[in-house]
Order: sequence, then C-alpha cells, then structure tokens
Amino acid sequence: MTQISKKLLVTCALPYANGSIHLGHMLEHIQADIWVRYQRMRGKQVYFICADDAHGTPIMLKAQKLGITPEEMINKIHKEHQHDFADFFISYDNYYSTHSIENKILSEQIYLKMKKNGYIKSKTILQFYDHKNGIFLPDRFVKGHCPKCQSANQYGDNCEVCGATYNLTELINPCSVISGVIPEMRKTQHFFFDLPLFSNMLEIWVQSGTLQPQVVNKIKEWFNSGLQQWDITRDAPYFGFEIPNAPSKYFYVWLDATIGYIGTFKNLCKKKPNIDFDSYWNKDSTIDLYHFIGKDIIYFHSLFWPAILECIGYRKPTNIFVHGYITVNNAKMSKSRGTFITARNYLDYLDADCLRYYYATKLSSNINDINLNLKDFVQRVNGDIVNKIINLAARNIGFINKHFNSNLSSRLSYPKLYQHFISKSDKIGKQFCKQEYNKVIREIILLADLANRYIDNESPWLIAKQYGREQDLHDVCSMGINLFRVIMTYLKPILPGLTQRIENFLNISLNWDDINNPLLNHKIVPFKTLFQRININDIINMLSASNKK
Ligand code: 2FM
Ligand code: ZN
Repeated sequence: MTQISKKLLVTCALPYANGSIHLGHMLEHIQADIWVRYQRMRGKQVYFICADDAHGTPIMLKAQKLGITPEEMINKIHKEHQHDFADFFISYDNYYSTHSIENKILSEQIYLKMKKNGYIKSKTILQFYDHKNGIFLPDRFVKGHCPKCQSANQYGDNCEVCGATYNLTELINPCSVISGVIPEMRKTQHFFFDLPLFSNMLEIWVQSGTLQPQVVNKIKEWFNSGLQQWDITRDAPYFGFEIPNAPSKYFYVWLDATIGYIGTFKNLCKKKPNIDFDSYWNKDSTIDLYHFIGKDIIYFHSLFWPAILECIGYRKPTNIFVHGYITVNNAKMSKSRGTFITARNYLDYLDADCLRYYYATKLSSNINDINLNLKDFVQRVNGDIVNKIINLAARNIGFINKHFNSNLSSRLSYPKLYQHFISKSDKIGKQFCKQEYNKVIREIILLADLANRYIDNESPWLIAKQYGREQDLHDVCSMGINLFRVIMTYLKPILPGLTQRIENFLNISLNWDDINNPLLNHKIVPFKTLFQRININDIINMLSASNKK
C-alpha cells in the first residue's frame, strides 16, 4: 500500500436510475463509506461523491412503460436513492445525477477535445433495428438461439447456457425483446473512441499502480486479446446527451457515466466555492482519486476511463478498489426466491448498522463473492455486537451510575491491559486502509473477549457485595468502560449509528488519537437501550415483505 495523500476524492459506481437500491449495491457503498469514515477520522480531507446514472435505453423504455417522462422517473428515483443511502449512513458530500448541466457541458467538451486530437473514428456499422418501434436495438434487447448450442432465449452477445460469446449477427432467429418482431439489419454511422491508441499508456498505468492482483490478471487477458475501438454512439430515440454536430446521435450512456464523476465533483465545487477544481483533476495533481467498483465494470474503469482522462490531459485514478458480488444464502439475489432485498425493505425491519457490521466481517481486499447468510447474519450481530460489545458496557455501567453518580474513577485498575488495547491502533488502522475489514473485526472481537474476561475475573458484582471495596469497584468498572471506549473508537467507521448513541452516553466524541488518554474523572450520561438484538421474526417479516413486491 502506497502512502495515501492528505486530500482524497472517492467515488462509488453510479447506480442506474431505473430501479431501487438493493443489498447488492449496499455492499459497495458500505465498503467505501467505512473507508472514507476511517480516512476522515485520521485527519484526511475526503470528498466522497456519487450520482445516479440516468441515461440509456433501459431507462427510456422503463419510463415509457410507466407512462411518464424519463426526467420524471429519474427525479423520483434520485430522491429515493438519496434517502436510502442517507439511512444507511453513507456519508456522501454530493449525490448528484449524470443528467445535469455540468455533465452535459463536460461530455461535449471532452468529446470535442478527443475528436480534435484524432481519437474519434467514424464508421458505418450494421445494427439490428426494430421497425415496429423505430429503434435500434442494443445487444441486451435482442434474443435468439445460441449459434453454438442452439439454446433458446439467449442474448445477442453471449449464451448463458454454454457460455459462448459471439456477434449479434450470428444469433439464430433473432427477435426484438421490446416488440417481439424479427429485427432487420440497418446501416448507421457511429463514432468510435480509438482505445488501441492508448495501449502502451494503459499497460504502463496498469503495471505501475497498486491494483489488486486479481484485477491486474483480468486486465492482462484483455491486453492479450487486443483492445478494440469503443462505440460511443447511440441512435435516436435515446435518453441522453446529443453528440455535438451529429443530429439524432447520442453519447452512449457509459461515456457520460464516467464523466459523471467529474460532473458531480464540479457541482460540489459550486456548492463549496473554496474547493479548487483544477487541483483535483490536473495532470500533476497530488490529490488521490479512488474509485470503488464491482468486478463487472473493471473494463470501463481500467481501460476506457484512464484513456479518456489521458486524452483530455487530466490526471488518472490513483487506484480502483474492486469487490465481488453479493449472494444471499449462497445464491444470486432473486425476485422469485424472495431474496431480492431492497435497501428500503431492509431498513423497514432492521438497523443499518447491522448490515454494515456483517458486511465488514466479510469484506477483504480480494474480489471474491460475498455471501449474506441470514442465519449467520443474526448470529454474528447478536453474538458480537450485543453479547460481547454492548454487554461490556452494560455490565459496568450500572455500578458507575448507582454507586458513583455516573463518574468514572481517577485511575485505571489495569494500565497494562489498557496499553495492550491502544497498541493495536496501528495494526487496525493499516487493516482499514487495505480494506481488510474482516481482519479489523477479528482484531476487535479478540479485544472484546479479553475485556470481558477481565471483567469476569474481577467480578464487580461480587466486589459490590464486599465491605470496604468501593474503590476497587470504581476502578474495575471504569476500566471496563475505558476498554469499551477504545473498542468503540475502532468500530466508529463501521457503526456510525451506534457510535452516535455511545458518544452521547460517554459524553465525548470518539476520536482515533484520543484513546492515548484514558477517560478519567469523567461524567457519563445514563442510558437506556444502546442496541436492539435482532429478532429472527424481523428477518422473516423482511423476507415476506420482499416477496410481495
Ligand atoms: O454498472 C452500473 O451500474 C453503472 N451504472 C455504473 C456506472 S459507474 C460510472 F462509471 F459512472
Ligand atoms: Zn449456447
């Protein structure tokens, strides 16, 4: 891991504006938010941005189906997405949209610059056309029989049965997914971004960075099979930005999606005029730029995106952090199995922190898929957060309130143990930086076990019954609360909701470096419930509600 700069710009992939946020999306936003919150805690200045990806054929068709304009639909979904992320405590500085004036201007400028520099090629291509609807059909909107294994109902570019990939024109008995008609082949003029011209630069960028090894291997396969020119054009009707000087031709959604990162940042600069836009994007920027993405969109972020940035003279990403997919109970999330759980479904029944915690127990720096096993989820949350962490506070706090008027003692009963706890700060910090959250949790739970063992050994409930041991009782329970405070400081990036309640209860804010000084002679605030144990009925109710949608 190379050194992380003082200022950072961090993004998540932009969710499409035609559907709800679900627990698959949440993996990435939680992974990134934990990282960002950790960096902020360590004094970095982070801007964390995201937006809805608002263009493209599926969005246009969905709005049509709903009988509303695409603008109406994306505005409604934008509000819903913002609300979902806020309720999961995702701490965006700006959550914007690619359908914005900033993005339109930037996309046009960038395209014109690419064209002027000779990176745009024009070609006439053949494409399927649905004459009934008057629309050119993207690959995903044509289905037919696989040319290799003859399976029916396969998409235009690959077969889900035998895994073969092929050209749209090879598909047998093609039919339009929109109208069912047999599409005809039509000629159309498209503009291509000449990616192969950037091969050398990209190979150097990929080798010199700190990309995850699995990601580098994937990219090498693409280099080996040769980079292709990228079709950045879509014909009208299309919901997107029209290409300058090319009536009825639109930018392909993926072009203005990545540029949406810049557009969203530009909009943030309008809201916070003290940000110097250029210092973030100029070629020699010393500010780090990180993208969190899923493994399905590595190609766009590791090849197209750095090439676009290179050709307009902007800086390239410092790193791309890639994660795997989510499965629920070991299977792909699925509506028919009732495991397609939206963010709102989840929030209606469960606490956001629980999912943040569970994902953290599973997240590492590799790109393997992550399984959300709902039984394990309940056990981990109740077993770790309630039985080990909250319990540590609960078993000491009663004595502090009742016998000592909520004041902590002036000394620690076991300073060596406290030292041991704070000596883990560097190790845990490094694990946060490397996104090894599973290791962070392992380390913290070991500490919680140690703290609980200490309390078991001292048994304050017995001390309380012994005459003349008031001071011991005070010191032991204060020690317990101090260990709890260190643990909660380490957990702060992961559990922002619980942290807020604990900051109120401890009557301090939890800061990473403050743990060097134990809390002594300090008054805390009596509390009622800090955390609700998950009841299995909450899960059952959530699943049955997801099933009904
Ligand atoms: O795959 C997706 O969901 C895309 N909407 C991600 C876009 S990320 C970025 F490049 F804009
Ligand atoms: Zn096949």
